[in-house]
Amino acid sequence: MIELVKGKAAAKIRISTEGHPIVTYLGEEKKDGAVYVEGVGSFSCSAPQGSGRLYNKIAIITGSAQGFGKGIAEEMYANGAYTVIADLNYDMAKEVADSLGDRAFAVKVDVSNEESVAAMIEETALRLGGLDIFVNNAGVAKAGSLTEMELNTFDFVTRINYNAYFLCTKYASEIMKAQFEADNEYYGDIVQVNSKSGLAGSNKNFAYAGSKFGGVGLTQSFALELVPYRIKVNAVCPGNYYEGPLWSDPEKGLFIQYLNAGKVPGAKTVEDVRESYVSKVPMRRGCSPKDVTRAIMYCVEQEYETGQAIPVTGGQIMLK
Ligand SMILES: NC(=O)c1ccc[n+]([C@@H]2O[C@H](COP(=O)([O-])OP(=O)(O)OC[C@H]3O[C@@H](n4cnc5c(N)ncnc54)[C@H](O)[C@@H]3O)[C@@H](O)[C@H]2O)c1
Repeated sequence: MIELVKGKAAAKIRISTEGHPIVTYLGEEKKDGAVYVEGVGSFSCSAPQGSGRLYNKIAIITGSAQGFGKGIAEEMYANGAYTVIADLNYDMAKEVADSLGDRAFAVKVDVSNEESVAAMIEETALRLGGLDIFVNNAGVAKAGSLTEMELNTFDFVTRINYNAYFLCTKYASEIMKAQFEADNEYYGDIVQVNSKSGLAGSNKNFAYAGSKFGGVGLTQSFALELVPYRIKVNAVCPGNYYEGPLWSDPEKGLFIQYLNAGKVPGAKTVEDVRESYVSKVPMRRGCSPKDVTRAIMYCVEQEYETGQAIPVTGGQIMLK
């Protein structure tokens, strides 16, 4: 989506072959409404589509082929955002994008790989003309005690939940900085989908909890660094999404794993395990993608807050 600004040159972004964004002032408007950006090609111009609280915002959601990310992408799309479904699993990401409509497309990305992250950001900027909201959602969970945990498993969790947040913010923020330079009224948003395990320790789940606690430190530090460019950086910290595949998959889900491992004393069925977890939540239910998206939309709409880690836990975690 490229919008021409009447009366002054419209600033748009192109990415150099080294991956650096360059602000370009667009040239003449062609007869058919297309504009030509040197070194990049022709773009057709159209008025922004849709309506809603995120109208005209360009958003990337990583890990959005399933689970929380998919639900967040659906909610953001329904609220008017141009939505990039970025996931390691391209086939499933494409299914999600196709089910949404014209304002969505899929990108294959491995968030732990620098080249792949740079390519995701570049493709988004070139196809949509910029980036307004980056939702850092892709994450993995590998539980295990100190005795069981192997270094390579610990590294795997850290690489995707912690290192990748750095990589994604590094590239996403470059586009947002360039947009700020072109328009000083501009706000960008980076939102990390963290976890309640980023706010309170998690027994025999330290690889995950440690990576998420680290994410809060990155969020606060990125927020301080990026505030001069009006880029807000916040984390949202959901409780457990019991209906999602991570918990409910009949073969690999945590409910069946915990039942088989005897983690919940006395539990004889998956329902017993589920009840034991739900009973820890004052609001007596798990967290949904809609709950998480409401928190993300708060971060986007709120112009006077940055560097926060906001619980979305039905009262299970209360900040001190
Ligand atoms: N499910 C929960 O109960 C829960 C609770 C709190 C926080 N979270 C957080 O929410 C986020 C999403 O969790 P979920 O349960 O929906 O996960 P999920 O396993 O259902 O989905 C994760 C998605 O991320 C993708 N992915 C994995 N590695 C990737 C990589 N290297 N690059 C790109 N994509 C990759 C997967 O293909 C998948 O589509 C995670 O950050 C998780 O820590 C989940």
